[in-house]
Amino acid sequence: RFSDLTGTDYSEGAIELARNLAARDGFTTISFLVDDVLETKLDRKFKVITDKGTLDAIGLHPDGRAKRVMYWESISNLVEPGGLVVSTFLCKLSETLILHLSVELKLMLVSSGHNIM
Ligand SMILES: C[S@@+](CC[C@H](N)C(=O)[O-])C[C@H]1O[C@@H](n2cnc3c(N)ncnc32)[C@H](O)[C@@H]1O
Repeated sequence: RFSDLTGTDYSEGAIELARNLAARDGFTTISFLVDDVLETKLDRKFKVITDKGTLDAIGLHPDGRAKRVMYWESISNLVEPGGLVVSTFLCKLSETLILHLSVELKLMLVSSGHNIM
């Protein structure tokens, strides 16, 4: 059971919504932070990182390749050695993204030495 939880999004509206839902459902110990994952202000590491839909949004941007590299660099700095990253894709278009990732992640895992997945 996890007790040290942090939720982030770069949209103030999304964070406000998440704060309200957490309060409504009695999750009082989650920290929420408006933060761009590509230029994160977080200066710590996490055992588990979960992402639902953010990599879709970033990876399908016209400049997606460069942004995906920034995303994995940021995530690999945020996850503890031996930690876990779970990324959930939401849309059908993600099949294209997963194809890109399957190639890029293998390259990045070899070159960075980080065991991020
Ligand atoms: C498809 S929504 C998913 C929202 C939420 N994770 C959920 O599951 O309901 C994608 C989210 O990614 C956020 N996002 C996109 N680019 C981001 C970035 N560079 N840093 C942080 N959040 C980002 C958007 O603001 C949006 O809330």
